[in-house]
Amino acid sequence: MNARKKIALIGAGQIGGTLALLAGLRGLGDVVLYDVVEGMPQGKALDLTHLAPVFGCDFKITGTNNIADIRGADVCIVTSGIPRKPGMSRDDLVKTNADIIRKVADGIKSHAPNAFVIVITNPLDVMTYLMQKETGFPTARVVGMAGVLDTARYQAHLAEELNVSVSSVSAFVLGGHGDDMVPVRSYTTCNGIPVEKLIPAEKLDAIEKRVRGSGGEVVALLKTGSAFYSPAASAITMAEAYLFDRRKVVAAAAACNGEYGVKGIYLGVPVILGANGVERIVEIELSSSEKALLQKSAQGVQSIISIL
Ligand code: APR
Repeated sequence: MNARKKIALIGAGQIGGTLALLAGLRGLGDVVLYDVVEGMPQGKALDLTHLAPVFGCDFKITGTNNIADIRGADVCIVTSGIPRKPGMSRDDLVKTNADIIRKVADGIKSHAPNAFVIVITNPLDVMTYLMQKETGFPTARVVGMAGVLDTARYQAHLAEELNVSVSSVSAFVLGGHGDDMVPVRSYTTCNGIPVEKLIPAEKLDAIEKRVRGSGGEVVALLKTGSAFYSPAASAITMAEAYLFDRRKVVAAAAACNGEYGVKGIYLGVPVILGANGVERIVEIELSSSEKALLQKSAQGVQSIISIL
C-alpha cells in the first residue's frame, strides 16, 4: 500500500526547486521533479534527499528527465517555460510557452490523468486556459496560482503600513495576473475593520499600485530571474487545500462560466478549494469601478488568448 500522495513538479527551475523543498518540509507526500535539462532535477533531488534527515522529513524525492515518471501523480504543479529574453516580443513568449505547455499537458494527460493541476507558468491565466483545453480535464481540476500570490503581496504591504500581523489582514486581488489585476479594496479588512477606515485613500492607492508592479519590482532587483519563494509558497497552499480538503477560500485563476460577466476564459476570482478542486466560484458584489477594472482585466486575458 502506498499511502503517501505523489506530487509532480513539472519544471525544476527556481520555482520548481522551491516547490520541492516546501512540499517536503510540509509533508505533502513524495515528490517527482521533472525538467528537460539533464542532471539538474536529479541534482536538486539528491540535495533535498540529503536535507530530509536534517529535519526528520520522510519524503522520497526523485529527479527525472522522463515525463513518464510523474505516473499516477495526485497533484501536478507546472512551472515549465522560458522567461522573456531581450528583444523577444510578448507574442513570441506566449507562443514559446504555449508550445511547452501543450507538450507538458500531453504528458500529464497520459501519465497522471486524475491529477489536480496547478499552473504557474506565465502568462498565467492564458497558460492555465491552455492546460485545461489540452488535457481536457474538468475545469475544477485545472487552476492557476496567481491570485493567492497577488493577494499575499497586498496583505504584506497593508500589514506593513498598519504595523500589524499579516494574519490580521484579509484581502482579495482578482483579475488577470498582470498590471491590470484588481485589488478589491471594498472587501479588504484588518480583522473585519475595513482598511478604508484605517488607511487614507491616497496611501491605499500607492500600496495597490505597488502590488500591481510587485512582480516587476522583484525582477528589477534580482536582475536575473523572477520571484520564486512566494509563487512556490502560494502554489503549495493551494495543493494543501486540495490534498487535505481544506475548503479554503482563495483568489485563483479559474474557468469562468458567466460569473462576474466573464465566460470561456480563466481569470482570477474567489474560489473554494477542496478535495474536488475548484468546488465553486464565489460571486461577491463589486463596486462599479472594481467591476469595470475586472472587465478590462478579462479583456487583457482574452487578447493574449487570441495570440495562441
Ligand atoms: N518541460 C519541462 N520543463 C521545461 C520545459 C519542458 N518542455 N521547457 C522548459 N522547462 C524548464 C526549464 O528547463 C527551467 O528549468 O522550466 C524551468 C523554468 O524554470 P526557471 O527558468 O527557473 O523559471 P522560474 O523562476 O521557476 O519560473 C517558472 O513561473 O512565475 C512564472 O514567469 C515565470 O513562467 C515562469 C515560470
